[in-house]
Amino acid sequence: MTPIRVLAVASEVYPIIKTGGLADVVGALPAALKQHGVATRTLVPGYPAVLSALRSAETVLSWPEYYGGPIRVLAAANDGLDLLVLDAPHLYARPGNPYVGPDGRDWPDNGIRFAALSRVAAEIGIGTIPTFLPDIVHAHDWQAGLAPATLHYSGQQRPGTVMTVHNLAYQGQFSPDMLATFGLPPEAYALHGVEYYGAISLLKAGLQFADRITTVSPTYAREIQGDDGGMGLGGLLRERADVLSGILNGIDIAVWNPATDHEIAAQFSAEHLTPRAANKAALQRRFGLDVSSGALLLGVISRLSWQKGLDLLLETVPTLLGEGMQLALLGSGDRDLQDRFAALAQAHPGRIGVEIGYDEALAHLIQAGSDALAVPSRFEPCGLTQLCALRYGAVPVVADVGGLADTVLDFDEATVTSDAATGVKFRPVTAEALAHALRKANLLFNDPVTWRRLQHAGMTTDVSWHNRAGRYAALYRELVAARR
Ligand code: ADP
Ligand code: GLC
Repeated sequence: MTPIRVLAVASEVYPIIKTGGLADVVGALPAALKQHGVATRTLVPGYPAVLSALRSAETVLSWPEYYGGPIRVLAAANDGLDLLVLDAPHLYARPGNPYVGPDGRDWPDNGIRFAALSRVAAEIGIGTIPTFLPDIVHAHDWQAGLAPATLHYSGQQRPGTVMTVHNLAYQGQFSPDMLATFGLPPEAYALHGVEYYGAISLLKAGLQFADRITTVSPTYAREIQGDDGGMGLGGLLRERADVLSGILNGIDIAVWNPATDHEIAAQFSAEHLTPRAANKAALQRRFGLDVSSGALLLGVISRLSWQKGLDLLLETVPTLLGEGMQLALLGSGDRDLQDRFAALAQAHPGRIGVEIGYDEALAHLIQAGSDALAVPSRFEPCGLTQLCALRYGAVPVVADVGGLADTVLDFDEATVTSDAATGVKFRPVTAEALAHALRKANLLFNDPVTWRRLQHAGMTTDVSWHNRAGRYAALYRELVAARR
């Protein structure tokens, strides 16, 4: 089979720069695609963290002036990733979070920062780097959304374009005055263009003009065509339903492998589950919880935002305590949620432990030591923590939405083939339903044989990228064939 050349475009990539699951996906997909005959190069902004991660780099493109300063594109191999880095100090030489400044607000020039990224991607798409002409430009989220639109309007022979939605809630909206700055022609500012309720949406730009649209689970692909889930773009997504599909995310099963994980207290596997108990004790100590094997220890690893439904978990604390359960939460985000969880931990030492912050190593210990992992999201395009939980034998208790619905098989749903059940799902996404799910999880936990079966089924579920990457490879091939 002829290899397919893909230019992936994204604003984050694991392990170099990450705020959420987008980075995990962009970082892990290329290696998995390689097994399917797809060679990926990934274009990312040259934030300080990215530039300092490069060991050696070759300049493949250099312009003296682009959006207010000189830019270069550097090619570099890094941890198995074939990176193209847009080095533009006037846009990206800002430490810390890729999107927000020290005051916690979005950088005022984010439109320009990511328009530059997307337009350079489009340039590469039409052959500006002579040694690399991609068959496909694959744009991830709004930060890359202008790439398919720019290619559409380029009037040149162009590669196929794919737009992947990781989260429809972030739409990249900017003033209509930016149209020319974004390099778009006046006619692009239209209902069937980039216009969005009197503004420009860079996500809409991608959704409107990409040849194919994907999102990260089949259920989310359906939900976003509805009026609620569509978040203002449902009509467009319904119109483009014939080119829209949902492909589930996987996780990097080398990074997330309880049998070899050095971040945890004791390694274990589906066959050797006993050492897992040492992780629970280590996690309890780390969070100042009473060290007890009998109490169900519920873990949470999450951004603290409305999407994740953790305010509902706050409401269920009386149930949690009444059932004799414990909670270990790691998260950061909304100030209000941070404060409420921190206060809760202070009020219930030994029972509730909270760590506000971002800590990759601790996330591994939580997966290894919790009995169950709660993901009560109001919406969830795919979700990755429940996939890690399955692999680590932490039974997921999840809202029945989006990718959570597609990746967890509920104990009751699975009555016919109950061996296959992997977790507990609840709906509607309310505090009452969550409380009920927690009580149910506790009941199952207190039946060791059943619990062991749930863990085992989860740990032997395929959460890897291999087959899922195959879906992307097939999509790319189909698109290349369609454009011949
Ligand atoms: P989202 O991208 O919406 O935040 P996902 O579940 O897809 O949700 O991905 C979140 C990723 O970020 C996972 O890899 C998870 O382990 C990680 N993560 C989230 N919050 C933290 C945190 N506070 N510390 C460490 N890792 C975190
Ligand atoms: C987004 C979504 C999450 C998804 C991730 C990677 O951040 O919120 O559900 O898993 O992207 O696709």
